[in-house]
Amino acid sequence: MANKALVLGGKTGLLGQDIVEVLKKEGWEVIAPSREELNIFSSQELYSYIKDNEVDFVFNTIAYTQVEKAEEEPKKAFELNKVFPKIVGNVCKELDVYLIHYSTDFVFDGQKETPYEDTDEPHPLNVYGQTKLEGEKVLLEIPDLEVLIIRTAWLFGRGKLNFVSKILNLAKNKSSLNVVHDQVGSPTYTLDLARYSLALLHKKSTGIFHVVNAGQASWCELAQEAVNCLGLACQIIPISSKDFPQKAKRPAYSVLSINKFVQTTGIQPRSWIQALREYLYANFYGSGVNF
Ligand SMILES: NC(=O)c1ccc[n+]([C@@H]2O[C@H](COP(=O)([O-])OP(=O)(O)OC[C@H]3O[C@@H](n4cnc5c(N)ncnc54)[C@H](OP(=O)(O)O)[C@@H]3O)[C@@H](O)[C@H]2O)c1
Repeated sequence: MANKALVLGGKTGLLGQDIVEVLKKEGWEVIAPSREELNIFSSQELYSYIKDNEVDFVFNTIAYTQVEKAEEEPKKAFELNKVFPKIVGNVCKELDVYLIHYSTDFVFDGQKETPYEDTDEPHPLNVYGQTKLEGEKVLLEIPDLEVLIIRTAWLFGRGKLNFVSKILNLAKNKSSLNVVHDQVGSPTYTLDLARYSLALLHKKSTGIFHVVNAGQASWCELAQEAVNCLGLACQIIPISSKDFPQKAKRPAYSVLSINKFVQTTGIQPRSWIQALREYLYANFYGSGVNF
């Protein structure tokens, strides 16, 4: 019998939609209810939904992901990023269902100069990172829960507007764009992340893993690569974070190490540049579509 997955956030989320696609291609049965179809904050409703649908795996991609807005709405961010994981974790434990949960590079403060391992001490700089870290902790505290926590970063994919598609939208009509150069991270393609998540699942992995495409980039380098790839005549001008004030502090360096992932799965993630090209050629190149 095929595995059956519930993908929370699979209807509209940037990552969730690609998880649904990859699982279906692998022959899984998948359900992905919208927020109108399932009240995620009701333990009872969630319990019945998972039980009645005979779900074996729950992928939780639901999160409060607006880093800036989280500074103004910390309660809402805590509800989705800490309270909800606890609810879904407890339900999965009761039903003996394997939970795959996503977290972020923003649990780190950026003081390191080499890629962060899962064993490095987190120290978030903003409300989003703090709430996501709390979400990880509540899940790891649930005894006997089979949970895989995947920290990832800087996602781009076709499901939804993201940094790359926003830059391209702007670059179509502008002769220059200022982009921050002093924040460095791990750009990651949602389709690759979905495939790599499945590889970890095949190994029955639990605990915390870092999963990103290989390599590193600043926001400026990522923007430049995307603009070059599509041949847009927009100049990308590097600026300092100081000249682009934001409410939420960001780590200057949040590159994630994929060592543990490679050792566990035997898979070497491809570089973000290769992945970016595939994303751009598949979705934008020569199509004239609205980004
Ligand atoms: N995006 C990134 O660059 C990035 C980087 C690092 C880590 N991550 C992590 O990766 C995971 C996926 O991120 P993402 O960018 O794919 O997220 P996203 O696109 O913002 O999707 C979030 C999903 O959660 C749903 N949702 C939000 N509030 C809800 C509520 N109250 N009830 C029901 N559903 C609700 C949204 O549904 P609606 O469409 O109905 O609002 C959407 O489907 C998250 O855990 C995030 O923290 C993301």
